[in-house]
Amino acid sequence: MKAALEALESGALDEIAGIDDLKILEESRVKYLGRNGQVTGILRGLATVSAEERPAMGQAANRVKQAIADALDAKKDTLEAAAFEKQTTAEAVDLSLPGRRPRPGHAHLIPQVADEIVDIFRELGFQVATGPDIETEYYNFDALNTPADHPARDSHDTFFVKPGVVLRTHTSPVQMRVMEKVQPPVAVVVPGRVYRVDYDASHSPMFYQFEGLLVDEGVSFADLKGTLMHFLERYFGPGHKVRFRPHFFPFTEPSAEVDISCTMCKGAGCRVCKHSGWLEVLGCGMVHPEVFKHANYDYEKYSGFAFGMGVDRLAMLRHAISSIGHLYENDLRFLEQF
Ligand code: DAH
Repeated sequence: MKAALEALESGALDEIAGIDDLKILEESRVKYLGRNGQVTGILRGLATVSAEERPAMGQAANRVKQAIADALDAKKDTLEAAAFEKQTTAEAVDLSLPGRRPRPGHAHLIPQVADEIVDIFRELGFQVATGPDIETEYYNFDALNTPADHPARDSHDTFFVKPGVVLRTHTSPVQMRVMEKVQPPVAVVVPGRVYRVDYDASHSPMFYQFEGLLVDEGVSFADLKGTLMHFLERYFGPGHKVRFRPHFFPFTEPSAEVDISCTMCKGAGCRVCKHSGWLEVLGCGMVHPEVFKHANYDYEKYSGFAFGMGVDRLAMLRHAISSIGHLYENDLRFLEQF
């Protein structure tokens, strides 16, 4: 029996030493120490051993049982530690790797350009005014000397919200909203969104305008001209020719459209200026007495000038952007250039 115990012990220890899998280790535990295991079998067999041999044999059997249990426990610890090690290296975070930087955003080109224009006029003493995008027909048209049957209304393809209420087709209604609140002298600029039923490469149903209004005693067309020439030189840089072309707007008299020599071809003629050498950049004029009447301003005492321009158009001319749609499609590849 002693020899059998020794063989069992060395066989078991060898076997356990060679195991590298926790499941097989558990099978091995059952095989030796389980209820029907080999060591358990030997311990049961002690009953048949003679009384004088039994204590020594019992001791030996218990020692073997303990040795195998210790070997199983030690192996279990080693295998578990190895498994843990393997898992943690597999899932490890490399703290030395650089992090992912958040991508900082920046203002869209349109507000950038609008801010720039505002700054130029602020230096001249103009203040910024704003008005609602949803406007009454009164402010959008009637107060600006454009009654319902006036042919000039046709040029503004208007979104109606409900009878008498529109999405403003220009920023000019803010002129009246300002004049209703303050007495001259008035010098305001109005950046803002406007809306028209219009959609092609140079028109968007929503776009940005920039309005200006100056009213005081003795304001002349020369003041208008000087102010706008200064603005155009600041915005487009020196060296552009500027011309004032007679035009019609219901709310100004006389009225003019202003062109600058083409920013692309310097006046030689190209696709951008449709081979005319000139680019139309804004509308302007001297405030119509009818408009002053609506504002309850004394039109004998005061005079003023007003102007309006497309912010999108100014941005497109500066950056040679071919379609206004690019500005509103939110393609980052396009927007990130500015
Ligand atoms: N409101 C005009 C438009 O949208 C632009 C304009 C022209 C504004 C002349 C003015 C002005 O203030 O005096 O077409």
